[in-house]
Amino acid sequence: MIKAYRSKARNLVQQMTLEEKAALCSGQDMWATKPIERLGIPSIWLSDGPTGLRKAASGQEGGLGSSLPATCFPTASALGASWDIQLAFEVGQAIGRECQVQGVQVLLAPGVNMKRSPLGGRNFEYFAEDPALAGEMAAAYIRGVQSEGVGACLKHFAVNNQEFERMFISAEVDERTLREIYLPAFETALEKGRPWTVMCAYNKVNGIYASEHPYLLHHILKEEWGYGGFVVSDWGAVNDRVEGIRAGLHLEMPSSGGYNDQKIVAAVRSGELSESRLDEVVGDLLAVILLADASRKAGLSVDSARHHQLARKAAAECMVLLKNEEDILPLSEEGSVAVIGHFAKEPRFQGAGSSQVVPTQVDNAWDALQHYYNNLTYAPGYQDPDRPDSQLIEEACRVARESEVAVVFVGLPSKYESESFDRRHISLPPAHNALVEAVARVQPNTVVVLTNGSAVSLPWHRNVKAILEGWLAGQGGGGAVADVLSGKVNPSGKLSETFPQRLEHDPAFLNWPGANGKVHYGEGIFIGYRYYDTKAIEPLFPFGHGLSYTNFEYSGMKLSESALGEELHITVRVSVHNTGKRAGQEIVQLYVRQEACQLQRPEKELRAFAKVSLEPGGQKEIIFHLNQRDFAYYHPAAGAWVAESGIYYIMVGASSRDIRLEQAFELQSGEELFVPFTRYTPIKAWLQHPRSAEKMKAMMEKVWQYQGGKPTDADALKMMEAHVMDLPLAKLVAASRGAFSLEQVDEMVKMVNG
Ligand code: BGC
Repeated sequence: MIKAYRSKARNLVQQMTLEEKAALCSGQDMWATKPIERLGIPSIWLSDGPTGLRKAASGQEGGLGSSLPATCFPTASALGASWDIQLAFEVGQAIGRECQVQGVQVLLAPGVNMKRSPLGGRNFEYFAEDPALAGEMAAAYIRGVQSEGVGACLKHFAVNNQEFERMFISAEVDERTLREIYLPAFETALEKGRPWTVMCAYNKVNGIYASEHPYLLHHILKEEWGYGGFVVSDWGAVNDRVEGIRAGLHLEMPSSGGYNDQKIVAAVRSGELSESRLDEVVGDLLAVILLADASRKAGLSVDSARHHQLARKAAAECMVLLKNEEDILPLSEEGSVAVIGHFAKEPRFQGAGSSQVVPTQVDNAWDALQHYYNNLTYAPGYQDPDRPDSQLIEEACRVARESEVAVVFVGLPSKYESESFDRRHISLPPAHNALVEAVARVQPNTVVVLTNGSAVSLPWHRNVKAILEGWLAGQGGGGAVADVLSGKVNPSGKLSETFPQRLEHDPAFLNWPGANGKVHYGEGIFIGYRYYDTKAIEPLFPFGHGLSYTNFEYSGMKLSESALGEELHITVRVSVHNTGKRAGQEIVQLYVRQEACQLQRPEKELRAFAKVSLEPGGQKEIIFHLNQRDFAYYHPAAGAWVAESGIYYIMVGASSRDIRLEQAFELQSGEELFVPFTRYTPIKAWLQHPRSAEKMKAMMEKVWQYQGGKPTDADALKMMEAHVMDLPLAKLVAASRGAFSLEQVDEMVKMVNG
C-alpha cells in the first residue's frame, strides 16, 4: 500500500526546499500535519484511540473530555481478555469507520506495551502481560482500522511500561529481555497488521530517548523488521530533533511552532545533518501522507446504534468469570436480586487520559437488568470511595438480606488508575471492600461485579460465591453485565494478566518504579505468569483463567512435523468437547517449555491460542501451527534467536495453571548454538567440544602432574575438580608453570573456532 506512493513521494521531495522539508517533519498544530499547497501536499489528521475515537473539535484544542461523540468500546485490557482476534478486528473496523466519517486519517492506536507490573497506571490501555497475545490482538485491531482506509499507529515504541517519570526515565533492560518480552508484540503487530505509522515512547531505553534511538528506530524497526511507514513522536516526546531525524523519527507532534524545524535547517546548512538523510525521512513520511489522503472516503455514515450493539457484544466477550461456586450464576429468572453499589447506576467504563472518549450513549447495569428481572432492589452502598459510610452499608445489608441474591458492583474510580500516574497499590477503595465484606456477612448468595482496568486484590474472595471481572468495558458494559449475569451470554473471557495474591509477589516489585532517572528491569524475562509459574508462586487467579457456564473437555492431542522448505513446521491437533448443557466458547491455550537450556527459560510460554464456539455436546478439532521461532529464545551472545535441538514439551490447556494435555517433542533444529571460544572459555567447555576434548584431557593429566597429583581425599578431590572445571583455559599457563604457553592456548582457540 505505502509502496505505491513511494516514487511520487520521492518526486515531491526533489521539488521541496530545505525549509519545506524541515517543516513537514513537525505538525501544524495539536493534531494535523502541515500542508504544502504549492506542491499539492495535503494535511492529514491524527486522533487518539484506542478505546474509541477522540477527535478534538479543532486542531488547537487538546480535546480531553470535550471531543466529538464517538462509540466507546472496551479498553484494550478488556479486549485482551476476550482473546478474540475476530472481535478485535471488528472493533478496529468500527473505530476506523468513525475516523473516516470524522475526517481522521490516522488513529493513534493500538498500544502494545507489556503489563510489566499491575501498578502500571496505563495498563488498561494495553492488551496483556504476554507478547504473543498482545501482538495478535493488536494485529487484528490494526487490520480492522486499516480495512476502512484509515491508518493505525502502533504505540508506544518501546519499553514504556510505567507512568512514573515517563517523560525521561530510562528503562534499563537487557538485550534478551528486550527481544523476548518488550519487542515481540510490536514485531507481530507490524508483521501481521502492517500499520501505517508507529509512535515512539516518551522514555529513554538504556539511556537514549526512544524518540532518537538509532538501535530501536533504525536498526530494529527499519533494517531488521523492514518497516516502511512513518514514526511519529509521542506528544511532546522529542528531545533532540536532529538526532531524531538521524535515528528515524519522521514526524514531531504536536507542533513545536517552527522551533525544531529551524534546528533541522541549521543542522543541514552546517553539515551536521546530511540532506540526503532528511530526504529519506521526508520521503517515508510523504508516502504515508499521500496514501492517507488518497484513502479518504466521502459520503460514509456511522450507524451509532449498530456500533453501540457491537460495543455491548464486545464487552460481554471480554468479561471474565473468576469464580462461580455452586453455579450461582447465571441468576435464575425467578427470585429477588439486590443490586448494590453506585457503579451499577453510574458505571466507570473507560480509563482516564488521552484514550478517554465522549461516548454516544452509556448503558448501566441497573437499567439493563430490568429487562431480565422483575424483582430488583437497589442500594448505592458507597459514595466517597475512600471513606466507608456506615449508613449506606447498613442500607445495603438490609436490601441484601431481603433478597435471595446480592450483586455488588465495586471497582476502581479513575483517581485510582489513569494515564500520567501509576497505582500505588492493588487494593480496591476501602469503602468498596467494606461494602462487600458487610454484604457477604448477611447474604450467603453474594456475587461481585468488578470494574477496573488492571489486576486488583480481592481480600474477601472466599466469602462470596461468584466474581465477575467486568473491566472498563466501554459504553455497552452495563448492558453486557446484565447479559452475562442473566445467562443470555455465556462468559468466555480469560485473564490476560495474572492477579497476584499480594502486591509483594509482583516480579517487578523490588525494581518499581525506579529512582535517579532509571528503572532497572531486574526481573528480566520473568514477568507475569513466566515468573509465577517458574517460581511456583500461587497467584490469586492465573493468567489465562476464566470460567464458563458450561464445561469443556480436551482430548486427542496429536503432533506432526513437516518441513516447509527450510522451515520447520509442527502441527498440533487437539479436540475440545462441550460437555455441558449450554452453548459456549472456550479459549484453548498452547504453551511451550524446553526441558534443558543453556540459559534459564520460563516454565512455560504462550505460543498460540484459539477461541472456539461449541454447542452443547459439540466437539471441534483445533489445529495449531508452530515454527522454529516458537521454540527459540534470544541468545544475547549469539545476537540471534536460537531453537536448540532437544526435548520440548507442548502443553495445551484452559489456563496457564490448568494444562489438560501435554506431549514431549524432540526438536532437531540444526541450530546448535555456538558461542566462539576465547582464552577465557572454561576447561569444562574444552572437554566437551569434539575438536578439543582429547587434547584437553591430555593437557589436564599433565596439569595434575605439575600440581603434584590429584588429591587422594574424596571430598578434596571433588572440590578441586569442580574448581578446575571452571578455570579459564588461559589460567593453565600459570598452573603448568609455563609448560603451556599462551601461544598454545591461542592455537587451541583457533582450532576450535575453525
Ligand atoms: C499519549 C499518547 C497519545 C498522545 C496524544 C500522549 O500523552 O502518551 O498515547 O496518543 O498523548 O493524545
